[in-house]
Amino acid sequence: MDGSDIGKLITEYCNSMDRQEELNKALFKKLPKKEWIGQLDARARELTMIATRDEQILDEIGTLLAKDMSEEESLYLYDRVVEMYNNDYDDYVVIFPLLKKLQQIYEGSNDYEKLIFIYKAIFYEMCEIRNRGSGQMRMSDEYLEKIFALCDHYSEFTPDARRGVWVAWYNYVVIDTENPDFDINRSYLRHKKANEFWNSDVVQSLDKDNENILEIIDIMNKDWMCVEEHIEKANDEVKKYLYDYSGKLYAEDVAKAKSITDYNDRVYALYLRTRIESGEETFSGALDRYLKYYKSCLAKFENAGKQSVEEQHFLNNGPLFMLRLVEHIEDKNKADRTISYLIESSRENLFTKYKDFPSQFINDVLAKWCYKTLKYLDTRKEKEDYILDLIVKRQLPTYLHSVIVSELAMVFAESALVYMPEFFNDLPIKEDIPEYLRHCGLFHDVGKTRIADIINLQCRKLGEEEFDSIKKHPEYGAKFMENDPDLIIYRDVAACHHCYYDGSGGYPDDYDHNTPYRAAIDIITICDCLDAATDKYGRNYKKAKTPEEIFDELKKFSGTRYNPKLVRLLDLDPDLKSRIGYFIGAGRAEIMYQAYRKKI
Ligand SMILES: [Fe+2]
Ligand SMILES: [Fe+2]
Repeated sequence: MDGSDIGKLITEYCNSMDRQEELNKALFKKLPKKEWIGQLDARARELTMIATRDEQILDEIGTLLAKDMSEEESLYLYDRVVEMYNNDYDDYVVIFPLLKKLQQIYEGSNDYEKLIFIYKAIFYEMCEIRNRGSGQMRMSDEYLEKIFALCDHYSEFTPDARRGVWVAWYNYVVIDTENPDFDINRSYLRHKKANEFWNSDVVQSLDKDNENILEIIDIMNKDWMCVEEHIEKANDEVKKYLYDYSGKLYAEDVAKAKSITDYNDRVYALYLRTRIESGEETFSGALDRYLKYYKSCLAKFENAGKQSVEEQHFLNNGPLFMLRLVEHIEDKNKADRTISYLIESSRENLFTKYKDFPSQFINDVLAKWCYKTLKYLDTRKEKEDYILDLIVKRQLPTYLHSVIVSELAMVFAESALVYMPEFFNDLPIKEDIPEYLRHCGLFHDVGKTRIADIINLQCRKLGEEEFDSIKKHPEYGAKFMENDPDLIIYRDVAACHHCYYDGSGGYPDDYDHNTPYRAAIDIITICDCLDAATDKYGRNYKKAKTPEEIFDELKKFSGTRYNPKLVRLLDLDPDLKSRIGYFIGAGRAEIMYQAYRKKI
């Protein structure tokens, strides 16, 4: 194999990623409608070409990777992958096979620096694609353990490789806290093991004063501590360890701090929490203290300009800590005031500060933050606006799709009310059914706000793992809606809109089809497909269908995928097809234009 062949393909793929970003950004320019729509059309044409070429590139790379490589070619490939990785061209579908090839080449060798990079990168890619918190992340632990298995040779490692080992320990200890089966007692053992290794003779003799590594270890220990909500589940040994350790860190922090905002937020949170646990502080008192601290940190960050890592951590964790305190206090009024403050500041700070921060982790934090605070809002309207805000700000493509689905759903509901009103007999919603369905359309894909951006924005066909990740969105969406009495009416639609009408296919497969919301689910399922199949702007990897083609398809799958009564409605109501035709045809560009204007 010629090293330059694969190099050219990699370069071409990276360039196409840049071009996609450029095309997506261009839509945010303020332009007159006609020009904007012209650009939208041109973008769709170009993306279609890119999607086709990207798939060819992936095939060609696959063919080259199947062949043996010389030492020189392997080295070249390694350098290119490091470069891609460091410059954020880490699209899973292209970088993962490259990394697996490198693993195959270097595994068993004593090129530890390369091996550590390869294992670390595979670990990160697996975490990103498998959705943090989904339970599948456990599978990636194996790659960190491979790094630890090399550590008998620690004294032979380069400084970079040694640093890589500590990044791996950091992840082993800290990312574990994001697994749904996270167990603080088990995680304590990881934390202990990492610290034991740190104190071993070989590590101490080499790295005792290594600032780079000391910093990682410091953050590792503090980040591990920030899972203070798990204190209740800790056994006595772990509890005592946490109390002593947080007290010690807090004392160090206070000694070093010039002002309250110099405290480390995680240590401070844990310190307050341990004081509550031991009866030295009330929830209400701790809330007051933390709120004061939170506000002073925001003021500090406000003046600091560029967002620091410290600020990111604080914005991720600080508000959630306060929420947990609120959940414990008896003073309802104080809790209410804090919550309204938190919601307001979360909208201002979280959404705007993270505006250009596409990461599955941030998506997950923001979505979690949103669904945890929803129940504190007063009216259904406020809650709906809040969710919509999240979708618009985090996932514009999902919002655009949802708007079309919501318009279609309203049209279907209006028509069904005229031609077969009994269709809604079992539906618990009795008033303004079209308006209810409009909202079902807007929220059906809310779970996608937790999926990695790169998957949601992808113009080529999704890879198998990417599709597995997307398939989680109904479950996430259901979780979003089920905690709140006002939003529970949207739960089943979010959970079940990808299930076939007769239960013979789709996902998830463990869904109970005998729900009273069946009528709403069936309408959204049809509208979802109507939009997805005809969307020439958003789905570029296959040719968009014409309205006639998709109507034929509805007929073909009537009774299996789709509710036959709704398919029949297309013939019963003489206006229905043309009303639908507008939204999936000429009206789509207009709706998209309005949506972008709203966002700009
Ligand atoms: Fe969906
Ligand atoms: Fe959808």
